[in-house]
Amino acid sequence: MGTMGRELKEYGDVVLQLEETGGVLDFARVFGRVAPVHIEIGSGKGTFLVAQAQLHPEADFLGLEWASKFYRHAVDRIGRWGLRNVRLLRADAATFLRERVPAASVDCFHLYFPDPWPKKRHRKRRFLQSANLEVLLRGLKPGGEIRLATDHADYFQQIREVTSLYPGQMEPIAFERPAAAREGEMTGTNYERKYVKQNRPIYTTAFRKRQDV
Ligand SMILES: C[S@@+](CC[C@H](N)C(=O)[O-])C[C@H]1O[C@@H](n2cnc3c(N)ncnc32)[C@H](O)[C@@H]1O
Repeated sequence: MGTMGRELKEYGDVVLQLEETGGVLDFARVFGRVAPVHIEIGSGKGTFLVAQAQLHPEADFLGLEWASKFYRHAVDRIGRWGLRNVRLLRADAATFLRERVPAASVDCFHLYFPDPWPKKRHRKRRFLQSANLEVLLRGLKPGGEIRLATDHADYFQQIREVTSLYPGQMEPIAFERPAAAREGEMTGTNYERKYVKQNRPIYTTAFRKRQDV
């Protein structure tokens, strides 16, 4: 259902209230329980989160999205579904993860179809670069996972290069299609649904943080 002509609602319970927490987050306090923590970086309109959170009520999900339009759409959607295991935050994911997420607190990062920044001079704006990968590795629990998907061959190559720099800290694993993915899909996000219709290739990969780091 579209949202044309309908007011988007705020749903305060869906929004991660940062002022209340102060300093580094305590996920058990945020979600009111101890459960696996999944973070989606660039959660867009929330399509993946809505489906995945319903299929995994035993886990908690946090979506990070800096674009107000998408963020507000996702808050409204998750609020209407009444999902208790999802929170959204409007923020720059890199800064938030670096400053507010405790070390070894996250079970899985999902990075699906990050902005490709196709122009050569813009490549340094891509999310997956060394500094941010180090932030993700710090945030992951030992054995925690990073799952990635893109339709962009050059970005995928960059992902391969950057992730190969940390063999002592992470190892490649098979990409597990999330439950939210429908037949013929790898992730079930909004962008993937557009790209599948256009017959674009979808590249996926995944990594596990080593147990002993
Ligand atoms: C190409 S869209 C993909 C959205 C969604 N993952 C999907 O597959 O449908 C990339 C999204 O990431 C968001 N984004 C990009 N960089 C971000 C950052 N540093 N922090 C938070 N969100 C970011 C953009 O606003 C956009 O909504």
